[in-house]
Amino acid sequence: MSVSDSRFVDLVLSRTGNSLVSSNIIFVAKVEVLSVSTCNLSDPIDSSLQKLHSLSVIHLENNYFSSQVPEFLSNFSNLTSLRISYSRLNGTFPEAIFLVPTPETIDLSNNEQLQGSLPEFKKTGSLRSLVLSRTNFSGLLPDSIGELKMLSRIDLSFCNFTGGIPSSMENLTELVYLDMSNNRLNGSVPLFNKGKNVEEIILSHNDLSVLLSQYYIITTLALASCKLRKFPDFLRYQSILTYLDLSQNQIHGEIPNWIWRLSNLVQLNLSFNALVTLEGPSLHASSTFSILSVIDLHSNQLQGQIPILPPSAAYLDYSRNNFSSTIPSDIGNSLNFTTFFSLSSNNFHGIIPGSICNASNLQVLDLSNNSLCGKIPKCLSAMVSGLAVLNLRRNNLVGSISDNFPGNCSLETLDLNGNRLEGKFPKSLAQCAKLEVLNLGNNQMTDSFPYLLRNISSLRVLILRSNNYFGRFDCHKTNGTWPMLQIIDLANNSFTGDIPGNCLTTWRAMMVDGDASPSVLNQAKFRVFQFSELYYRDALTITSKGLEVELVKILNIYTSVDFSCNKFSGSIPKEMGGLISLYALNLSSNTLTGEIPSSLANLKQLESLDLSKNNLSGQIPEEFAKLNFLSSVNLSYNQLVGLIPTSTQFSTLPASSFEGNKGLWGPPLTGDNRTGMPLPTNNGSHSHVRQEIDWDFVSAEIGFVSGFGIAIGSLLFCKKWRKWYYRAMYSILVKIFPQLEQRLGNHRRHVYINPRWRS
Ligand SMILES: *[C@@H]1O[C@H](CO)[C@@H](O)[C@H](O)[C@H]1NC(C)=O
Ligand SMILES: *[C@@H]1O[C@H](CO)[C@@H](O)[C@H](O)[C@H]1NC(C)=O
Ligand SMILES: *[C@@H]1O[C@H](CO)[C@@H](O)[C@H](O)[C@H]1NC(C)=O
Ligand SMILES: *[C@@H]1O[C@H](CO)[C@@H](O)[C@H](O)[C@H]1NC(C)=O
Ligand SMILES: *[C@@H]1O[C@H](CO)[C@@H](O)[C@H](O)[C@H]1NC(C)=O
Ligand SMILES: *[C@@H]1O[C@H](CO)[C@@H](O)[C@H](O)[C@H]1NC(C)=O
Ligand SMILES: *[C@@H]1O[C@H](CO)[C@@H](O)[C@H](O)[C@H]1NC(C)=O
Ligand SMILES: *[C@@H]1O[C@H](CO)[C@@H](O)[C@H](O)[C@H]1NC(C)=O
Repeated sequence: MSVSDSRFVDLVLSRTGNSLVSSNIIFVAKVEVLSVSTCNLSDPIDSSLQKLHSLSVIHLENNYFSSQVPEFLSNFSNLTSLRISYSRLNGTFPEAIFLVPTPETIDLSNNEQLQGSLPEFKKTGSLRSLVLSRTNFSGLLPDSIGELKMLSRIDLSFCNFTGGIPSSMENLTELVYLDMSNNRLNGSVPLFNKGKNVEEIILSHNDLSVLLSQYYIITTLALASCKLRKFPDFLRYQSILTYLDLSQNQIHGEIPNWIWRLSNLVQLNLSFNALVTLEGPSLHASSTFSILSVIDLHSNQLQGQIPILPPSAAYLDYSRNNFSSTIPSDIGNSLNFTTFFSLSSNNFHGIIPGSICNASNLQVLDLSNNSLCGKIPKCLSAMVSGLAVLNLRRNNLVGSISDNFPGNCSLETLDLNGNRLEGKFPKSLAQCAKLEVLNLGNNQMTDSFPYLLRNISSLRVLILRSNNYFGRFDCHKTNGTWPMLQIIDLANNSFTGDIPGNCLTTWRAMMVDGDASPSVLNQAKFRVFQFSELYYRDALTITSKGLEVELVKILNIYTSVDFSCNKFSGSIPKEMGGLISLYALNLSSNTLTGEIPSSLANLKQLESLDLSKNNLSGQIPEEFAKLNFLSSVNLSYNQLVGLIPTSTQFSTLPASSFEGNKGLWGPPLTGDNRTGMPLPTNNGSHSHVRQEIDWDFVSAEIGFVSGFGIAIGSLLFCKKWRKWYYRAMYSILVKIFPQLEQRLGNHRRHVYINPRWRS
């Protein structure tokens, strides 16, 4: 086959170097198809590309150009397909390219730095597919978009478009797929293609008022956050509807019965509405919903019994409602395919039925925040060979935790906080080698420190707070214990003895340099089990109350050590100063003695330090004045002496941070009044120097006084972090319901994982 004979010549360069157009291909000026996808190309798109002027297909997706789209592409008069998604394009996209007479496909998606706007299109436009999702395109949608008579697929999701949706789109007779979600569009929504043929309509998360009238046939409808007040009635006749998202609207009252009769429905999301009841008669065990896999009803006001449990359900979220029944004793037998099951934050009472152990595909079981009582079924700890998350937090469960975790235990989160569990720590839990979060706080367990956990290197969060644990906390000279540990809370137990410094030297997650961006820390293995709303809400609870235990869900950059209210003695180990990325340290209410190690001043990220109610002596290390973020300090009720270090941070603290130390003086305690105070015992010239306020230092640091809340807030909303979070969510969704992905196939939304190759 010679170059000139062929209609299409695919020029597929796979890793022939980093330069896109190298001189040895210039002679093939007849090349019509240039497909260089996923080749790690990193040089800007080269101007020598101009020489391939007869190109009609340019597919360059999945590279790292970090450059603009060259204007000269608009000179390619044969261009029919332009795809440069996922390629880190930036700058402004040349509008002229949209106006080349021939293009059928333009896909620039997933170039978040790429700016642009849509031009006034010409009548003759041949565009069939326009994909700009996850770019920084903005501006109004031109009325002339209605002139693109061939347009069948439009994806403008996650951009910054504003204004109304042009009513001319009623004239797009070929339109099949439309995604304009997550923009800032407002106004009303036209009847796309006059209600005919459009199969998928996704308009979620705008400022639209949707009053949908008749659509003839539709497979996907996503109208999250569209101010709907009732169910669109035409849906009742949609026999091929597979995906329905009406979340975050103001739909109140009843969930109509016909929803369960939509025989092709796979995913239903009615979360965040004001729904109260389900229209009768009850549809238990009905065979009509044979393929409904995902039901999300969370955050409504639904009452009464657990509703609908379709036999095929993979994902059931009934959390945050007012359901108030017992859990049916045979529930486990209806959850054969279920991987995610949440009844969290309702008023369920009675026992956890043993049949739940028959739900052998469960990966996430969340029954937290209810009034469940009785014992935890023995079989539940034994079944955890598939379970990743078991959350029974805040119920009234009693008895001890069965010590029968199996050898292949796959638990990653075990949260039993806030029950009345007693007895010993279950030794077999040490077999759960993937455990990341262990929260047994606020129970009545009695045991010594569970050393056997030391082999679990994935542990991030260990909370034994408020139990009756006793004895020494020691790491038995093992090396490399808990390199991932972020949060350890042993508060309010009866631990005794020294805090062994050598144990602290292996907590590497607390030793990350403070300048690291939030996502750097252990991001590969990090998991979040809940959805963003829950995640944010939990995080906010923390900032408002100081150090709340619920923190576990989960900032990967949040680190804290809380050993308060025990009987720890001896001095504070200097190794504590090695945990340089620590955010909060609480050693309050122990019997610690000796001086405060000056190494603590290395904790540059520290925002909260509580050493109150010990027997610490000596002076406050002068270096403390340089801890920028420190906004909550409590050194009260010790034996400290000398002048309180002068710094902006310290002078804004309340006097109660220092009270109860007979020998401390200086602001904020006593003004600058030394009367009656013993002279500082140190022998150098320090005290002399310290009496001067360092005004340079003060003015430099004044911007940082804001403190705990703000710093956490800014981490939360940091853009990098959010982006990372989205990716993590996607991978988790796929992990949670792999079946779903198969089932949905083409209907998977917003996410293009595989580069599409031209074959
Ligand atoms: C649809 O097209 C017809 C004929 O071209 C035109 O008269 C009408 O104004 C268009 N409708 C809208 C809403 O633009
Ligand atoms: C349902 O919609 C809400 C709000 O739009 C979203 O947070 C949640 O993840 C969705 N549920 C599922 C299972 O996709
Ligand atoms: C679990 O399922 C088996 C077989 O389907 C059944 O015999 C058993 O009674 C179930 N267990 C419970 C506790 O319901
Ligand atoms: C923990 O690890 C040590 C050394 O790596 C090993 O000797 C010991 O058997 C392990 N213990 C458990 C409970 O797995
Ligand atoms: C430190 O722990 C004590 C006792 O558990 C608690 O009262 C105090 O509020 C904690 N300090 C901070 C700053 O959270
Ligand atoms: C410091 O701790 C003491 C004793 O626990 C308490 O009375 C005081 O209010 C605390 N001060 C601050 C600022 O937290
Ligand atoms: C210094 O403090 C003492 C007692 O705390 C008080 O009697 C005295 O008036 C104070 N002097 C000044 C100058 O503030
Ligand atoms: C002065 O203090 C240093 C360290 O704090 C100590 O090593 C030294 O012995 C002290 N000298 C006198 C004269 O007290």
